[in-house]
Amino acid sequence: MTQDNRVIIFDTTLRDGEQSPGASMTRDEKLRIAKQLEKMRVDVIEAGFAIASPGDFASVQAIANAITESTVCSLSRALDADIDRAGEALRNAASGRIHTFIATSPIHMKYKLQMEPDRVVENAVHAVKRARNLIDDVEFSLEDASRSEMDFMCRIIEAVIDAGARTINIPDTVGYAVPEEFGHTIAQLLQRIPNADKAIFSVHCHNDLGLAVANSLAAVSAGARQVECTINGLGERAGNASLEEVVMALRTRKDRLGLETSIDTTQIVPASRLVSSVTGFPVQPNKAIVGANAFAHESGIHQDGVLKHRETYEIMTAQDVGWNTNRMVMGKHSGRNAFRSRLEELGTSFNTDVELNHAFARFKELADKKHEIYDEDLMALVSDTRAED
Ligand code: KIV
Ligand code: ZN
Repeated sequence: MTQDNRVIIFDTTLRDGEQSPGASMTRDEKLRIAKQLEKMRVDVIEAGFAIASPGDFASVQAIANAITESTVCSLSRALDADIDRAGEALRNAASGRIHTFIATSPIHMKYKLQMEPDRVVENAVHAVKRARNLIDDVEFSLEDASRSEMDFMCRIIEAVIDAGARTINIPDTVGYAVPEEFGHTIAQLLQRIPNADKAIFSVHCHNDLGLAVANSLAAVSAGARQVECTINGLGERAGNASLEEVVMALRTRKDRLGLETSIDTTQIVPASRLVSSVTGFPVQPNKAIVGANAFAHESGIHQDGVLKHRETYEIMTAQDVGWNTNRMVMGKHSGRNAFRSRLEELGTSFNTDVELNHAFARFKELADKKHEIYDEDLMALVSDTRAED
């Protein structure tokens, strides 16, 4: 199942994103975000962890009842009660998925689960079979896969695929992997597991070393066909792979990666703003794609280049991802060309180059004193220059 060039986008903003300290959301807030994710054409929405609380159960249920175009998923540990609760919350879903997981790394099996590897395999197989009795679409995750042993991963994955798992997720739970290594892990799993072609391989990367997106891209290059990610990269600790970065990297570098998603990218900025306002987590100005400065140009050289030909300094358009426009920020690095162009946009201009040069010199003096020169500053500067000349 890895020949297809379409990458499934699995959004976990409402589950792993919500595990970001301070980011918990009400049922209605989650529902609003789920509707925006559906509008953006996200393939799978992980709506929550049904057994975690009555509120989370209600959220998964409300989202499962309301969403028709995306698959709605609930997380569950490899425990009967978790799986049954997830199945109950998803009962009315147009398309539902149970996502069950168990840890497979030596450190997690020994200290957290206190379980022998054989028991871990037994529990995983049991969980997948139980989930398959409730729903057709079952995903299985090997928690802490990037610190798990290859032979053991091959063994458990082969067994859960036989038990009916349709998606196998390889999480870099603690953000430990580096891209080349992670890509190699995916390639090895696909090559070594005899029934690998019966499932879609997925990745779920955390950002502890700032490598979540790079690791996700290395994985899809090696044959993974689902990426788990969140809006604004929200998530446990340093967060998860950011949906907007993964999607725009795939789109912008389709020439190199040869892969695509179904995402309506013009819905990315509205989704980012909604998640930020609901959680109260601001987006840093220099955040790729959705930061306020992602399409802003301040330096004169860049502004001049963009005014002559946008692609000199832009690899995608602001409109592609849902901004109204790119922005020329007027500041001390701005050049004469951008200054003149901004004045023209404001409906004003000078009759002579002498006047323009005079106004530009005043602008530079002002720019040394202020971080950013606003349109009001420019208009005041124009009338002062005219009064003097
Ligand atoms: O990071 C992780 O391992 C997870 C799993 C539950 C998929 O979030
Ligand atoms: Zn996670």
